[in-house]
Amino acid sequence: MKRIAVVTSGGDAPGMNAAVRAVVRAGTAQGLAVYGIQHGYEGLIGGQLRRLGPRDVGGIIGHGGTFLGTARCEQMKTPAGQAAAALQLENHEIDALVVIGGNGSQAGSFALSQRGVRVIGVASTIDNDLTGSEPTIGCTTAMDIALEAIDRLRVTASAHRRAFLVEVMGRASGYLALITGISGGAEAIVTPESELSPESVAQQILRAYERGKRHAIVVVAEGAKYNAEHMAAYFEQHEQRLGFELRVTKLGHVQRGGAPGVYDRLLATRLGAAAIEALHAGEHAILLGLIDGKIASTPLVEVVSATKPLDTRLLELAQVLAI
Ligand code: F6P
Repeated sequence: MKRIAVVTSGGDAPGMNAAVRAVVRAGTAQGLAVYGIQHGYEGLIGGQLRRLGPRDVGGIIGHGGTFLGTARCEQMKTPAGQAAAALQLENHEIDALVVIGGNGSQAGSFALSQRGVRVIGVASTIDNDLTGSEPTIGCTTAMDIALEAIDRLRVTASAHRRAFLVEVMGRASGYLALITGISGGAEAIVTPESELSPESVAQQILRAYERGKRHAIVVVAEGAKYNAEHMAAYFEQHEQRLGFELRVTKLGHVQRGGAPGVYDRLLATRLGAAAIEALHAGEHAILLGLIDGKIASTPLVEVVSATKPLDTRLLELAQVLAI
């Protein structure tokens, strides 16, 4: 093995840069020529590869986003796109590929491995919905950002005795909502795994006021059936009957663009370096992540066919603590 490539794909996550840096520097230390692919799988299909040395990745460890660029690539979901990507790697004489990304990206990794490409996946998504890592790179920083917003909203909510709803990202997973809701002391948490109707949220808020609370915070996952939009419409319609209004804040991409914290920098660095070790040991078609606090590999075939469950005991705990 002489030449390897690294790509960041899908939604950017804080820590992706640290992972690229680790792949480039650990790979170079092993005598490998490392190539960076720009703009995710789209760039791979278009042949956008460039050689990276240790100095090219200097100073990026603390930056959010990804200096390689990334993309959502529809073409990579098709056999033709996957064949074109594999061909580019062959034409550039790339012996192995490291894919830093979440579910969609690792589905691409798996498809490439099925075509004979030696691939190592590195678990990275703010959603923490990828089987094979607890947590994934980026989710801790994203949650810290969301939590800071929730804390600030509680301050102003308390001053006015208001109710606030915060919608966090997470796609179909309620993980971000659950953890930031618990950590932010939310009165109600709504996730796709544990839907709450707008009326039951309203009743929870009313009961919180009755118990003497000065504010109410509701954290809602974007993937919930009754997300921010639905909740806002319902509360507006029923404001007179309920006797209070619900102010809505959608955090959106603010959660994604932050500078990685210490946890994500270290996790990304360890997983990036582990990718080189794994390749050196002859492994491939695996995802590297953290399991029980240790770096572990999971076959890509398992990663793409599993759904990560949410720990609903935490949800029950949140309800107990909201009294
Ligand atoms: O998967 C990461 C994520 O931030 C999700 O939480 C969110 O639903 C999605 O990406 C948004 O994607 P995009 O930036 O492509 O709109």
